[in-house]
Amino acid sequence: MSASLFDERTPSVRWGDPSLLDHLQRVRRPWNRLTRRIVCGILATVAPEDTGSAIVEIGAGDGQLREWLPSACLPNLTHSEPSEPFLQRLRQRFPEAHAIHAKATSLPFETASVAAVLGLCVFDSLPDLPTVRDELRCVLRQNGVVVHFLDLATNPDCLFPELIAHGEIPLTNFARDPALLAVLSDGQKALLPVTKDFDEILAIDGRAFAKYVTMLESAGHPLVQQLGAYRGLDPYRLAQEYMTVSADPAKLLATNKALLSLTLSARSLGRDWPIRSISTRDHLRAQLTSTFTKVHGFQIVYAGPVSAWETDATIPEGCPMLLRHAGQTRALKEILPLPGQPIEQWAGVPTVLPSTGPIRACTVEVFVAQSSPLAPREGGEGRPTGRH
Ligand SMILES: C[S@@+](CC[C@H](N)C(=O)[O-])C[C@H]1O[C@@H](n2cnc3c(N)ncnc32)[C@H](O)[C@@H]1O
Repeated sequence: MSASLFDERTPSVRWGDPSLLDHLQRVRRPWNRLTRRIVCGILATVAPEDTGSAIVEIGAGDGQLREWLPSACLPNLTHSEPSEPFLQRLRQRFPEAHAIHAKATSLPFETASVAAVLGLCVFDSLPDLPTVRDELRCVLRQNGVVVHFLDLATNPDCLFPELIAHGEIPLTNFARDPALLAVLSDGQKALLPVTKDFDEILAIDGRAFAKYVTMLESAGHPLVQQLGAYRGLDPYRLAQEYMTVSADPAKLLATNKALLSLTLSARSLGRDWPIRSISTRDHLRAQLTSTFTKVHGFQIVYAGPVSAWETDATIPEGCPMLLRHAGQTRALKEILPLPGQPIEQWAGVPTVLPSTGPIRACTVEVFVAQSSPLAPREGGEGRPTGRH
């Protein structure tokens, strides 16, 4: 296994550069009002203000979540963050905030002393979710809540090693690239893997991929050059390439084109080409719901997208709906039903989308679990949680 994006040194390298946080702020800015409405609406329902009990944020970065929280939470809130440069940035931005240096696996709070643990875009970056879960269960009081928001694209750092361990390689989802689909015949489309809208990843069997690429390479086929770094066979490097390519629209189009040609040629030759489509959000949701279980002292309150919308006269004509969902922004040609549960429903108010635009809408992936008495394991006692 090569030194990679995913090795032991990753966290300090990955979370050491505050310019990443500037980038996140820029991406979030147009959606701030809607995201804030979702965050406040969820917290008003699942963590109503009470008598000054402690609230802890994990992986706080530079304090983005603080800007969206109801002001009544702030006096009881402690931000925790393991990256020193990020923590410094948070303290500069919010000198009045209480912020500490801590990992989510080791929180300096008394057992059963915390009313709510909050996180924004953190659970997808934690390689050891079960240890984090046990730590949160330990510091949370009875009926305390864990509330996680994911408003950006899911970080695949934890998913990729999992795929690679299963012998798969992550590819960009070329089968959903509208520019490429537009020029395909129905026969070619039939050779594509089945994918859902907003699925970001196609995972292909690494051996089948390597075998075919090696064969083309030894035949001097020009397609191999077009694959760029994807012609390499080290799965970790290929996963890194996914990240580089996804962040650059020109590279993404060129890579998608090459991967599409590769798939069409492999499948039209009848080669074994096992490929499946993955939504990183669905994957994270499944991982969280299978981690925060009754046996571990949690009951899931909600896991899924929550949506909000507003009218916006600044959206250019011809686009009645600008939608941000699963980390992607789309200018739609008609008003479509919103993915996920509208935030108004959380307050028991019906929501009706207008029939004409322009509107701006977004979703945030929300996960809420409440600490509950430990359920006994089948055939045994419930496992006592506590610090290791
Ligand atoms: C994508 S950033 C999100 C930052 C911030 N919450 C936001 O959304 O702007 C992920 C954060 O998780 C933090 N993190 C990484 N490993 C962690 C761990 N073991 N415990 C707690 N936080 C961690 C990183 O330092 C980083 O601040």
